[in-house]
Amino acid sequence: MPESPAPLRIAVLGAGTVGSQVIRLLHDQHDDFAARSGVAISVEKVLVRDPGAPRDVPIDPALLTTDPVEAIDGMDIVIELIGGIEPARSHVLRALEQGISVITGNKALLAAHGPELYNAAAASGADLYYEAAVAGAIPVVYGLRESLAGDRITRIMGVVNGTTNFILDAMSAQGLSYEEALARAQELGYAEADPSADVDGLDAAAKCSILASLAFHSRVGLDDVAVEGIASITAEDIAEAAFFNRTIKLLAIAERRIGEDGAEGVAMRVHPALLPLDHPLASVDGAFNAILVEGEAAGRLMFYGQGAGGAPTASAVLSDLVAAAHHRAYGGHAPRESVYARLPILDPGIARTRYQIRLQVEDRLGVLSDVAGIFARHGVSIHSVHQRDDKEPGACVIVATTHLAREADLRAVTRALGQSPAVREVASAIRVEGE
Ligand code: NDP
Ligand code: HSE
Repeated sequence: MPESPAPLRIAVLGAGTVGSQVIRLLHDQHDDFAARSGVAISVEKVLVRDPGAPRDVPIDPALLTTDPVEAIDGMDIVIELIGGIEPARSHVLRALEQGISVITGNKALLAAHGPELYNAAAASGADLYYEAAVAGAIPVVYGLRESLAGDRITRIMGVVNGTTNFILDAMSAQGLSYEEALARAQELGYAEADPSADVDGLDAAAKCSILASLAFHSRVGLDDVAVEGIASITAEDIAEAAFFNRTIKLLAIAERRIGEDGAEGVAMRVHPALLPLDHPLASVDGAFNAILVEGEAAGRLMFYGQGAGGAPTASAVLSDLVAAAHHRAYGGHAPRESVYARLPILDPGIARTRYQIRLQVEDRLGVLSDVAGIFARHGVSIHSVHQRDDKEPGACVIVATTHLAREADLRAVTRALGQSPAVREVASAIRVEGE
């Protein structure tokens, strides 16, 4: 019989929504994890800010510490679930530089400092795993990094932020106000410590950049993604979407495109968009996430599941732990950063999209022709127009949906409409995807 490897010493940095569930599952299923990894796993330290704070799960007080050096040094594997950039970055680097493998769910950190972390891991031979950083329980990082490593990915489109999806869904299905829906998402543990990262689209943008790096074998960061959040979406927009058999989702889109110089590059954007109700992403409700991946050989794949919440995210963390523990005990390592393709980042203005523009206009002869003229002057073709009376006297509502056009031209149309004497208000301009 080969000798059993010594138990692995694990530190969990952070015992909040996700960290507490990781600790609970490691305790409750201790023997299963040992069997799956081939080595016993022992949680030795739990780093927190306030050791006296109430916890969702019981944690042996002897494990709690506020000292990162005590928590990290001498461990075999460190699980970072603090969030944010600092002190998470310093702690992760401290571990990697000592050859300690790191598992993190921190997309903000990866999107801002991914190359630095990858380099530190490669230099010391440590593993860096981050399945939980994108879409909670869904194994999309593994899917892109390993299962689809043999394919050429052309496009990724996903609902990757549980908080905003929960908010949009609660506003449309339960009639909750934006504020009520956000408060509920925070209570359920979906939102980031600063929920503006969710509602402003930055959390989705960080995930978009991580997925794009993996899919396109190129280094991309948060600043390379054009971002709009959901703050501008009103109950009226949601009702209007339902009227046209559509729903509104915050989408993350990353695609290969040919740039204006004729060379291939990567274009990435995060924004709310109208989707037809029969689109595969339209039925992704609550805090669920889904990612559609298009591969040249594989065709279209859809990854779907719980995108946020303590236990679903802990599932992803622990899958990484099984792999990292096995490598520690028996050799091997996680895939390293793959950036050989070095595709340039394209200006998001060259993306071709469609808009649905809702206008409040003067109810007078020729107004439709004035509006149509503005679209025509900017080279944007109208697909359909719907007109109805407005509740304000002397006004009516026009809802125009365009054909595909350059994003830059669509923005110019929206600006010009806002300046036209025929238009009282550009009530909304929302992109249309999937039709
Ligand atoms: P929480 O805010 O619930 O927990 C954060 C934990 O980190 C707390 O235990 C806190 O300690 C500890 N902490 C914070 N700052 C420090 C510090 N300076 N030093 C030591 N400990 C500190 O976060 P979540 O569990 O929600 O998220 C953790 C990570 O997982 C984030 O990167 C997040 O993006 C990611 N993630 C979260 C998901 C979710 O659904 N919540 C889903 C997917 C990923 P104390 O308890 O004492 O305050
Ligand atoms: N705040 C994130 C979300 C957590 O709402 O999707 C999961 O990454």
